[in-house]
Amino acid sequence: MKILGIETSCDETAAAVVENGVHVMSNIIASQVPLHQQTGGVVPEVAAREHVLKMIPVIEQALKEAKVQLRDIDAIAATQGPGLLSSLIIGTCTASALALSCRKPLIGVNHIAGHIYANWLNRDADAIPFPAIILTASGGHNELVLMKAHAKFTLLGETLDDAAGEAFDKVARLLGLGYPGGPQVARAAHAGNPNRYAFPKAYMHEQSYDFSFSGLKTAVLNLVKAEHTVNGLLSEEFISDCAASFQDAVCEILSDKLLRAVKTHNAKSALLSGGVSANQRLREIIGNKISHGYFFDHKGRKQDIGRKPEFYFPSDYSFCTDNAAMIAGSAFFSHTSGKEKTAVYGRSLLADPNLSLYYSRER
Ligand code: KG4
Ligand code: ZN
Repeated sequence: MKILGIETSCDETAAAVVENGVHVMSNIIASQVPLHQQTGGVVPEVAAREHVLKMIPVIEQALKEAKVQLRDIDAIAATQGPGLLSSLIIGTCTASALALSCRKPLIGVNHIAGHIYANWLNRDADAIPFPAIILTASGGHNELVLMKAHAKFTLLGETLDDAAGEAFDKVARLLGLGYPGGPQVARAAHAGNPNRYAFPKAYMHEQSYDFSFSGLKTAVLNLVKAEHTVNGLLSEEFISDCAASFQDAVCEILSDKLLRAVKTHNAKSALLSGGVSANQRLREIIGNKISHGYFFDHKGRKQDIGRKPEFYFPSDYSFCTDNAAMIAGSAFFSHTSGKEKTAVYGRSLLADPNLSLYYSRER
């Protein structure tokens, strides 16, 4: 089954053709990064206008690279949320119009479910054993999810304020590193000392799988304000050490909560997804903790992890940040798992009442 996926939830205009949820035939992303660098962040109106310009050429390119025509496509999928409404409208309306005119089924995809399914791209459909715990960390969302089977998601925890990627972006701005912040902070951290500053890590109470990064962000802000500058500039050494200490604080919290959830649910695999899953230090810290079999609890005590899970992150960097292959992949699994029972022609994806029902929450 070949699905044309469309993604326009934020600032990437993307289209892809994916066969049977895993085989990526094309994955086209028109990045708006240079445009939003001018403002240091995404201005929704600017993003939406760019989607209008890029949507059709990107779809044409995705079909061309996959060497298929619209008549060869079995279904059309689009991100229906969460995301910027003015950006989502462009992708969902285009998908609806294509589905209606070509008489193809239309599948709405939750953006976070898409990020999760980035892990299956270019792997076998049954490559990742269940139960799985997935840490999704992006600019707009940060969650811990339990999956016992395909397309069955249970929300264990989520951010109470900022998402990890958003914290990276804000710290990058405080350190004068530019947009988007994640890769810039990671680059600066490379030469830095991660033990120089002991930033607060919000573990919350013992059972909590929720995240909070606002305290950490404020601590960086206070440190930067107190730091001596020369001609208004922070020293290279300070920037590197601050970036490295901040990055490690985020990675410690994310890895400890992920691995505690793995232990609690006796999971066979631990997955990373979302833009922050591109972070090398995060992958390294999680990989180390799994191979040595420990994580830290809310009081900083070392705990045994129990059964060691298989560790996965998307097989290609382009699958970490926003892309349409993950949307087409997720659509396939929801479709074939019977979750998507109402694939009809031309329905309004934005008015879909099922959007908020993708997760059940476990307390
Ligand atoms: O998934 P994504 O493209 O968009 C959302 O759904 O939000 O994620 C973008 C986020 C940005 O906040 C960006 O700074 C972060 O992912 N990011 C990173 C890295 N690459 C991207 N954060 C940390 N380290 C990275 N290497
Ligand atoms: Zn995303």
